[in-house]
Amino acid sequence: MCGIVGYIGEQDATSILLNGLKRLEYRGYDSAGVAVVNGGLTVKKRVGKVSVLDRVLQTEPVSGTVGIGHTRWATHGAPNDLNAHPHTDEDGEIALIHNGIIENYAALKKKLAADGYTFRSETDTEVLVVLIRAFYDELGDMAKAFRYALKQVVGAYGIAMVSAFDPNRLYVARNGSPLAIGIGDGEFIVASDASAIVQHTRQVVYLDDGEMAVIERDRYVTKRIDDDTTVDKEVEEVEFDLAEIEKGGYDHFMLKEIFEQPETIRNAMRGRLDSEASTVRLGGLMNVIDRLRDAQRLIIVGCGTSFHAGLVGEYLIEGLAGIPVEVEYASEFRYRDPIITKDDIVIAISQSGETSDTLAALREAKRRGAMTLGIVNVVGSSIARETDAGVYSHAGPEIGVASTKAFTSQLMVLALMAVKLARMKRMSASEGEAVLAALRELPEKVEYALSRHEQIQEIAKAYAQAPNFLYLGRGYNYPVALEGALKLKEISYIHAEGYPAAEMKHGPIALIDENMPVVFIAAQDGVYNKVVSNIEEVRARNGRVIAITNEGNQQIEGLAEHVIYVPETLPFLSPIINVLPLQLLSYYMAVERGCNVDQPRNLAKSVTVE
Ligand code: F6R
Repeated sequence: MCGIVGYIGEQDATSILLNGLKRLEYRGYDSAGVAVVNGGLTVKKRVGKVSVLDRVLQTEPVSGTVGIGHTRWATHGAPNDLNAHPHTDEDGEIALIHNGIIENYAALKKKLAADGYTFRSETDTEVLVVLIRAFYDELGDMAKAFRYALKQVVGAYGIAMVSAFDPNRLYVARNGSPLAIGIGDGEFIVASDASAIVQHTRQVVYLDDGEMAVIERDRYVTKRIDDDTTVDKEVEEVEFDLAEIEKGGYDHFMLKEIFEQPETIRNAMRGRLDSEASTVRLGGLMNVIDRLRDAQRLIIVGCGTSFHAGLVGEYLIEGLAGIPVEVEYASEFRYRDPIITKDDIVIAISQSGETSDTLAALREAKRRGAMTLGIVNVVGSSIARETDAGVYSHAGPEIGVASTKAFTSQLMVLALMAVKLARMKRMSASEGEAVLAALRELPEKVEYALSRHEQIQEIAKAYAQAPNFLYLGRGYNYPVALEGALKLKEISYIHAEGYPAAEMKHGPIALIDENMPVVFIAAQDGVYNKVVSNIEEVRARNGRVIAITNEGNQQIEGLAEHVIYVPETLPFLSPIINVLPLQLLSYYMAVERGCNVDQPRNLAKSVTVE
């Protein structure tokens, strides 16, 4: 949420900042701006996408070798030129960009106003830069002013600052919102995530909460904000390639990421299938696996799509391994005074590893003494670092705001965990062998399911103007219905609801008439006949049925207006296949409706505010 980039070196800062902003735009796209040190300080910022700022900078170029850039997802104040970042003090001599929320900004603003400082915007960020200015006026030392101001701030931030008073330094800090420092040769590039850095260097230092850095062209120092002590940080290597964060010929990142799934699913199980022992090997859980096996209860927390993966996880782990599982929205868990004991194990699921609510839920669980595990995609992210152990989902960078490949990789990891635990508890070796065989076949089945994209595109054309959609599924595929509805809502702005199919009778059935498309996930599993009965109920009320079922199931042809066939697999793996047509349907619907697929309105990747 909000993209931050900063540069100090010998090259032209503006073009590096702009490139960085283009890579970070998926984090927010309400407005964009840069501030560059050049004798004084020049700030250019505009409401709208980075391309708008780009055009401004072409006609009004700004040169300099130190600067910061920001792409915004609005929290305080409407998206407009004035509220766009960077923000400066009244004299325009200090410029700051910020990702996060300053909770005590109103009190700070009141005090600063009483001291004679003035404000132009409605943002919390401007209050922080004015506070830094106030300390600078008093102390005449920028590093101290920066640190003293941060000590007064309550809230979450990833920030970067430049100043005309201190033209050869770039200041950054982190508390709750990610910040990475890329180490180049005689230059540094800082960013809220590594995708803006890899083009320049793979050597990265990740700041932890409560840390700041003062960066010059040939050195940097990292310190604790509270007591100014120096912290030695490990330099890490960014693993992914530039190609992974580019569109590679696809019209949208989302489509590219949907079609990457045969490979990402392969990656999620690479090196993790143990044929000899007919089981699964999860290196990241090696030290905690006995505790997991003996756990009285697992609690899964996550948000949005990751929460849906957690719901599938509940069915998987209870169904295969017989361990009780609860799943909760991280945002509820963190504030509702949950009962957690030190015998509980809390599993946080997150693509980004930075979602503020999930991180807070994890910290709450730790505070109450539970062991914490992570299922995380972004290597080195906060959740990955703060959990006691965990499993990476290895989906590679996900840029499309709507999560697709990260979801199926999370499902893969959950399935692997469930199989591992089941083999330790009650699954026989021959059953284990059959599961491994099914897992190995999965990438090809996924590829086959995706090859049906033209049919799905046709269906999308037929329903593109529908105002509502219902998604229904049961058992393992109930969370898939929720996920299908979420995908449609977020990128095509069509109102959609997901329900367990049988729940339809308890309310949603009132919505059904000849204008209501109803998507059924009708996998041929233990609840298939029940789902067929639900389809009949919808048909009896003239609802328009789109059914997803297994190859060869002709029975359903007579019941549904459209049938999308997918390959059969083991029931507990079926969500991984059944969600694919739903991802494609939402994608093509959004394209038909002319929506911005990769940057849906009001959304942003990685929700680092509450
Ligand atoms: C939906 C979507 C969001 C995220 C949610 C959690 O397509 O992307 O609902 O799933 O914001 O994000 P992570 O998984 O990064 O914690």
